[in-house]
Amino acid sequence: MQVIDIHNHFFPLSWPDLAARYGTPNWPWIKHTEAGRADIMVGDRFFRHIDSACWDPEVRLRQMDRDAIDVQVISATPVLFAYERPVEHALDCAQLFNDQALELCSRGQGRLKSFCQVPLQDPDVACKELSRCMLAGHLGVQIGNHVGSKNLDDAGIVTFLHHCADAGAAVLVHPWDMFGQTRMPKYMMPWTVGMPAETQLSVVALILSGALDRLPSTLRICFAHGGGSFAFLLGRLENAWHRQPVARGDCQHPPSHYLNRFYTDSAVFDGATLQFLVKTMGADQVMLGSDYPFPLGEERVGSLIRQSNLPQHTKVKLLGGNAAGFLKLQPELQETGDKKSGASAGSAPTEPAPGQLTYSSYLKIQELLELQRPQSSPPHHDELLFILVHQTYELWFKELLHDLDAVVANLRRAGAAPQSHDEVYEAARLLRRCTEITRVLVEQFTILETMLPTHFLAFRGLLEPASGFQSEQFREIEFLCGLKDEKMLRYHRPTAEAYASLKRRLEEPSLRDVFFGALQAMGKLPPPSEGETERERFEARARAVHALYKDENHHRDWIDVCERLTEFDELVVSWRLRHIQLVERIIGVRMGTGGSAGSSYLKLTLDKKFFPELWEARTLLTE
Ligand code: HEM
Repeated sequence: MQVIDIHNHFFPLSWPDLAARYGTPNWPWIKHTEAGRADIMVGDRFFRHIDSACWDPEVRLRQMDRDAIDVQVISATPVLFAYERPVEHALDCAQLFNDQALELCSRGQGRLKSFCQVPLQDPDVACKELSRCMLAGHLGVQIGNHVGSKNLDDAGIVTFLHHCADAGAAVLVHPWDMFGQTRMPKYMMPWTVGMPAETQLSVVALILSGALDRLPSTLRICFAHGGGSFAFLLGRLENAWHRQPVARGDCQHPPSHYLNRFYTDSAVFDGATLQFLVKTMGADQVMLGSDYPFPLGEERVGSLIRQSNLPQHTKVKLLGGNAAGFLKLQPELQETGDKKSGASAGSAPTEPAPGQLTYSSYLKIQELLELQRPQSSPPHHDELLFILVHQTYELWFKELLHDLDAVVANLRRAGAAPQSHDEVYEAARLLRRCTEITRVLVEQFTILETMLPTHFLAFRGLLEPASGFQSEQFREIEFLCGLKDEKMLRYHRPTAEAYASLKRRLEEPSLRDVFFGALQAMGKLPPPSEGETERERFEARARAVHALYKDENHHRDWIDVCERLTEFDELVVSWRLRHIQLVERIIGVRMGTGGSAGSSYLKLTLDKKFFPELWEARTLLTE
């Protein structure tokens, strides 16, 4: 695997006098002070000390060898962006530095790559320069996080980002031109306070504006300096999104939904912060970025990641695996001869190249395996099983909701187009999957029953007041199928997202409603008449089902749906029963950790049915 640093900077040894070239003052220039040292000046103002690592590839390569870095992707610095200048000057300046970057890379033994810069104040011109640069050999572009008062959600900038996705250009967003500078005149506060806030602002703008919903998922975009304050303040943003309609913006999902749409670099300079960043963003979204060779850059590039407590496989991703994908670097040719001739019988599987999709990157295996966090300390042997069994149930609940939603959609369409039988067939097919999953869920309790009651009691006390009773997805399945109980909502109040989705389920037509809606649309069930009692409606629905069964030759597909729904109902009752048996086997008739009377409470749920009319119809049938 190649170790790749995606955020570091260069300055050429020299460049033309830009103030004279454009006839305007305060352009950056380089003042060489002694051998290998220089100052960057902006007009008469000192800006930064730099050294020959900025312009001399040999120095860079030596330091890369020292730090075991294979590839650097160099970019110019924001002081050269010139977004506030006339576009023709900014374009000319960008072209000067873009070509200088390639010249420097050409002397980098293939280990130096580059990001260009563009005059972002004019998106059309910026798109053209980007295309020119991509053809010339740049891997992408470094942009500032705003253009004057325009954030990244500005329509023109979004158009440019779209173009980057189309052109296959990776985008590195660098904070610059920090706000509030009159209040931050000292102590480098614009760098330590302003930059993180600027970066957070640009991520938030991209998310809340809905720009990420509109931009293609092929856009590869990375925010410098660990994404600024974004990860640390994500909880605050998420809370506001859920609780204050005005804070929601125009995005389709809560902010945390978009974390896999962008990357951050690793330039956070603290091990615990890096771990938090990786935990928040995900191990696939963070890449080595050093800010080398500037004064605030990482002194020994890569040491933060290498010396962190992150697992080895995560370090590999951060050091280069993720960047190879972000930059779409060609995988190095490994066994050239063998590869060309194709696999022969009995040959071993191909070794995946860095950045390629693998079994575990696709399935997020590492993240999945890190999700089991026992409460007991030292962990009780059986607590892992207890956690895993519950997590497995929740995963299957997720699939059930996914399939049941599709059943609802199919039945809705079936009602709208009674001549077409495809939707009814599809609903029955998916319901069969639901019954098979539920059969597995009934069986699965036996695994938990290998746990001795004494072993469970050893850590049960640590779980209070958590309880399966709070399973949001279980309740969602009940609500979706038609077993709605508004009182249950209050148990989910502490989790705003869970509360919102349950409330939505409560208000939406259930599977039961949609099933009978379809029968009504097909003329098999008369519309409810005014003054009809709930009992009378129930009986009318049961009679409609009864009529289907009586006319089997014409309604085989609908009868199939009825049978599947009945079987599903039956299996959910079996689940309830097996759960009670498990509970009694493990804790007897003790109270539950959720505060209920335990098994006697659960027994009251045994009579619950999702589709009572389907059962009632059986009583109506005569020989
Ligand atoms: C040692 C194993 C288990 C014990 C002792 C146990 C105990 C209980 C108890 C006593 C309740 C009643 C609420 C309360 O006061 O806490 C309950 C509810 C519940 N449990 Fe379990 N449980 C176990 C395993 C599971 C598993 C593996 C699942 C799978 C998801 C599960 C899902 C549920 C659900 C969904 C409810 C709510 C049922 C309803 O309200 O109809 N439980 N559990």
